[in-house]
Amino acid sequence: MRIVLFGPPGAGKGTQAKLLAERLQLEHISTGELLRAVIKKGTGIGETAQRFIKQGKLVPGAIVRKLAEDTIAEQDYDQFILDGYPRTMEQAEWLMAFLETHKARPFVVVSLVVPNAFIVKRLSQRRINSETGETYHLTFNPPPADVDPALITQRDDDKSEAILSRLREYHARTEPVQEYYMAQGNFREVDGVGEVEEVYGRIVEVLKPTVPA
Ligand code: AP5
Ligand code: MG
Repeated sequence: MRIVLFGPPGAGKGTQAKLLAERLQLEHISTGELLRAVIKKGTGIGETAQRFIKQGKLVPGAIVRKLAEDTIAEQDYDQFILDGYPRTMEQAEWLMAFLETHKARPFVVVSLVVPNAFIVKRLSQRRINSETGETYHLTFNPPPADVDPALITQRDDDKSEAILSRLREYHARTEPVQEYYMAQGNFREVDGVGEVEEVYGRIVEVLKPTVPA
């Protein structure tokens, strides 16, 4: 099964992709996580990516394309859930051509719909465990008491200015990709507001009959 998980920043893509990956035995491929891993290595590409991410801007497509395609290839072109790729029309066309070349179709696009007001609340209160990568939310899913507070960090792009810039990028450059997928008939919208398990149930519902019961 191949899933593209679509949605604005803070829609819950990472949260839901993690659950889907665990429960449906899929590889979770997040271009955001891949970029953050490259940044940690301190290479020139990492420095470029960091500059864009910090400002809440999309990273140049060529960098992201290679990361996404290499990781999909490692997965033998199947059993993956893409989180955060594609994010522009150019990337959507690259992905389509790439999957076609490797006879890796069909795939389903699931779009999480979450209004801006929820997004700002979710992102401004998101925290990350710098050791394990675990994601928390100060209100909905607070870090457990036994986790060392020094390990609880905030992403650079979860500061208010960067959040607004990410939302602007999403509306200008990513939203149009939805129409492209709608026209192809493999696009499913899911209400992303509600408890995490509730949203998960809605996703599984729209994946039927792709997902075995
Ligand atoms: P990326 O890391 O992908 O960030 P994003 O798309 O902005 O999305 P987020 O990771 O912020 O949110 P999410 O939807 O995963 O939500 P989460 O589950 O964490 O990308 C970062 C940057 O990298 C981009 O801005 C760009 O610069 C660059 N980049 C990446 N891909 C790129 C590409 N293809 N092209 C160019 N550049 C690219 O949830 C958010 C919070 O809400 C958490 O605290 C969570 O606990 C909480 N939460 C989740 N679900 C619920 C719920 N149902 N109810 C209440 N709270 C919830
Ligand atoms: Mg994420």
